[in-house]
Amino acid sequence: MPKITVDGRSIDAKPGQMILQACLDAGMALPHYCYHPGLSIPASCRICLVEVEGLPKLVPSCQTPIRDGMVVHANSSKAIANQKQVMEYLLINHPLDCPVCDQAGECLLQDYSYQYGRSQSRFEEDKVKNPKKDVGDHVYLYADRCIMCTRCVRFTREVTGTAELFVEGRGHKEEIAIFPGRPLNNKLSLNVVDLCPVGALLDKDFLFKQRVWLLKEAPSISPVDAGGENIWIHHNEGVIYRIKPRYNPDVNTWWISDDTRYSYKVLHEDKRLRQPRRTQYGTQVETTAPKALEQAVGDLTNLVKTNGEGSLYAMLSPMMACEEAWLLGVAVRRIDPQAVLVMGPVPRAGEDEVFKNPANGKETFRIKAEKVPNAAGVRRVMNMLGGATATFEEFASGTKRGAPAAISAGRLAKLKGGWIVGGYLSPWLPAEVPDLFKAGSVRVVQDLLPSSLSDGATVLLPVAAWAEKDGCWENYAGKVQVFSQAIAPPEGVKREGELYWQMLGRPGMYDAEAVRREMGEPFASARAPAREAAEPAYEFVEL
Ligand code: SF4
Ligand code: FES
Repeated sequence: MPKITVDGRSIDAKPGQMILQACLDAGMALPHYCYHPGLSIPASCRICLVEVEGLPKLVPSCQTPIRDGMVVHANSSKAIANQKQVMEYLLINHPLDCPVCDQAGECLLQDYSYQYGRSQSRFEEDKVKNPKKDVGDHVYLYADRCIMCTRCVRFTREVTGTAELFVEGRGHKEEIAIFPGRPLNNKLSLNVVDLCPVGALLDKDFLFKQRVWLLKEAPSISPVDAGGENIWIHHNEGVIYRIKPRYNPDVNTWWISDDTRYSYKVLHEDKRLRQPRRTQYGTQVETTAPKALEQAVGDLTNLVKTNGEGSLYAMLSPMMACEEAWLLGVAVRRIDPQAVLVMGPVPRAGEDEVFKNPANGKETFRIKAEKVPNAAGVRRVMNMLGGATATFEEFASGTKRGAPAAISAGRLAKLKGGWIVGGYLSPWLPAEVPDLFKAGSVRVVQDLLPSSLSDGATVLLPVAAWAEKDGCWENYAGKVQVFSQAIAPPEGVKREGELYWQMLGRPGMYDAEAVRREMGEPFASARAPAREAAEPAYEFVEL
């Protein structure tokens, strides 16, 4: 492994790495704007210049490959003088609007101006002012804050391949722009907001909603499709304000889809189910979660006593965590050992959307057509639990198609009631409600949004959304990933895992990790990610 020395410190680097990346990997701070590990390297901002022994002038550390034995000085007087000059140049036309800028608190210009810049401006002329521009459905461009790093332009060329953004004009008239009639509306558009090192590109949805230093973060997984994008949920005082990508080289790298970003919205909607209900004398009345659970278990137990084994079903939702699907399956089979486990609807939208870099044809991102996060995980759990199973289509039509027939049509006709879990982020019930839902005399419904099914439930238990609980999902590629609770569920809503834990009469508190151990591999070895993102390593330089 090649070694380089940076400011007297010996660093192990990888062959072919650039100086900057080797330093960042080693936890050393080197200022950089235009460099991003997921994009090409134009070396245009010049703030990362360093002195290399044996070379006659400063070189861009982001674009200079390491050599074994290389000696680098990032803190020499020449390098520091360059950093100050670059900062002074970048701030010439930059507005002093940090107090009202959404990026304040996570702005590289702000941070570097403090660490590497001059404390006073020598610029006395009028600053160039550019108006705010609406560049897409979700994105505003505050052009006078832009430092022309071109990260956003390169993203639309190299990752989405849509090339909506370009640099218009030259010199101090340079501006990021869109082509007439071609707004920045691709399905990954909001990644440019994360990429922008200053507050030039901003998310319309997050604009002026919250100061970033008030936000806490929780590691999670995207609930919108089977891709399993890794995310951070940013929240404060029980409210989610935004979702950001969490780097995972095996899944989503640095990017997430816009659908993932806005997936939290439904959690705070008024129409969401929040009140447990149970049927009393033919009418639904409000109740508490423990009372609703007691009635649900009692009703289902009586149903099996009256109709015999094989009269219950449990519809497991692909929105459930694997641990919850496991516990509910075990609990329902305890009431009725012959209960049929039904896989809830697995919605699809056409084909996978694949993004490619037009320059080399390489795939850069994929949005899965399967619009639920855990169909693979719930299928695996159902296989582990064994016994009679059916897909939603088989269940809805009352016929079992295809082989092997784990369950016959006659067997489906014997079903008299069951436990139905929805939890989808949008309405999921088909226009033609399955007869079995209507016919069953006991329908315990757990859902997020109201529907005719929840209105007609004999027991209704609202569910907690994914951001309100711990669990794991398996993505389309068989990767089991753990997500952590960000906020508490609304008052009155009990997490499904806790309910099933109680239903099974287990002692103590529900413990998702203990359930994963009980389930065995591949769940047992899935680990929760660190709850906080690593802070960038800043080294304060004496100027
Ligand atoms: S808008 Fe942001 S990302 Fe785009 S060039 Fe300007 S500073 Fe860079
Ligand atoms: S980060 Fe190296 S020149 Fe911009």
